[in-house]
Amino acid sequence: MTNLSEWLEERAGINQIYNVLLLRKIPRGAGWLYTLGFATLFVFILQAVTGTILALFYVPSPDHAYESVRFIQYVLPFGSFIRGIHRWGSSAMVVLVGLHLVTVFVLGAYKHPREATWVAGVILLLLVVGSGFTGYLLPWDQKAYWATTVGTSMAGTVPVIGDAILKIIRGGSTVGALTLTRFYGSHMLILPALFLLTIGVHLYLVVYLGVSVPPWLWESKKEKLPDDETERYTLFKKQGHPFWPDIIVEDAIVSLIIFLILVALAVFVGASLEARADPVASDYVPRPEWYFLFLFQLLKLFPGSLEWVGVIVIPSIIILAILFLPFYSREKSRRPERRPAAMAVGALFIIGVVGLTYTGWASTPATAATERGIVLNATQVVGRSLYQGNCAVCHGENGEGTSDGPSLTDVGSLRNPAFIHGYIENSLAMNPDAEMPAFIPPPGKGQQILTHQQVEAITQYLMTFRAEGGD
Ligand code: HEC
Repeated sequence: MTNLSEWLEERAGINQIYNVLLLRKIPRGAGWLYTLGFATLFVFILQAVTGTILALFYVPSPDHAYESVRFIQYVLPFGSFIRGIHRWGSSAMVVLVGLHLVTVFVLGAYKHPREATWVAGVILLLLVVGSGFTGYLLPWDQKAYWATTVGTSMAGTVPVIGDAILKIIRGGSTVGALTLTRFYGSHMLILPALFLLTIGVHLYLVVYLGVSVPPWLWESKKEKLPDDETERYTLFKKQGHPFWPDIIVEDAIVSLIIFLILVALAVFVGASLEARADPVASDYVPRPEWYFLFLFQLLKLFPGSLEWVGVIVIPSIIILAILFLPFYSREKSRRPERRPAAMAVGALFIIGVVGLTYTGWASTPATAATERGIVLNATQVVGRSLYQGNCAVCHGENGEGTSDGPSLTDVGSLRNPAFIHGYIENSLAMNPDAEMPAFIPPPGKGQQILTHQQVEAITQYLMTFRAEGGD
């Protein structure tokens, strides 16, 4: 071991890297609030790893995208788990970067000399949101297709140049094959490259400048502290602990907790996969990803012709205001209680975003739809769309029955899942007089129409068909 490190030291000077990156002292006072940056980096690495695995199986073309994601979800060992981690990881990124920014804002850590660190951090938030938006389309299911159609159409509301912007984003007038490759390229190459670059700058600055000392210690009146900021920082650093092996323990604990939460979400909630995108089904009401809901809701406050003010102008002003915050905020003190104006504006902003998100949430139907008062899970939603495509002709859109097939409105309480599954698969095996076509006929007895998994999804959907009061 010592030989190897000596060998590397002689050729690459690794001791210096080790000292600067790992042994560097973190100033006294840095506590749990300082673990969010590291946690964000951790989830980013998780996204890179799970994203790479998904990319090995994903096909970015409208003909195969949905089937490749279905393969990942239902056939690939651990596929649904990895997809679940990646899906929830993207939400975690938004939450962590958001919380990190709020903490830095409240602690006044964006002030001199850390202005550039702040700017890089805000750009990272935009890149995270951009990655979420482009990634949403890739499964090419109904939700992906329609959320992207609505999302991109917002750009089209800009006067004069709206149409041109829309065509550039979509690669055509509607969401199609070019949109998918464009989003795939952005999601896989452009955004991650920009992300790595920005995170490199951000981390370089964090290591170069050191993290800020909490304002209550930095401006403490109880201690005698040097007036010169550099001397004062050196003092705090001397009283602090090294990143390795001390501070990293807190970072690792927080990251581990986040990882366990993501595992639980991936296993117990998972990532939904609805029916294949159907560009004709324009009655589908998509619900955008939760972190776009406030924008969705803001839009409704503007009448049609002014929509672009809500979609483009206001968000742009807000983004610029946040981006350049360190350059126009003038308070000398970093203590939150001495920056009442900044705190008030910040609080109003957060209340506004949370309020709009909540009203947006409450007013758009969940895509994991409820039907007859029952919340359908992801499989049942798939089952519903398969039912509409294969069974509704005879059994009616809501299972009410037609002249070609009996009512199924109470089938969930009259029959068990094994019966329903078997009947769909090969009705003749259960009923010699069956008129219903077999969807998975025995070999040589006709063409297979559904897969076993599809039959199971329909079965789970039909199990929710229970007449009122029965069980
Ligand atoms: C061509 C018309 C037709 C289509 C399409 C059809 N069915 Fe049927 N289904 C029937 C008829 C008719 C019956 C009554 C029994 C029989 O003749 O097989 C029936 C019976 C059933 C039953 C048994 C009900 C019971 O309690 O005995 C189930 C369950 C069922 N269908 C589900 C489905 C599902 C799910 C699909 C789509 C995958 C589907 N059916 C597609 C005509 C159809």
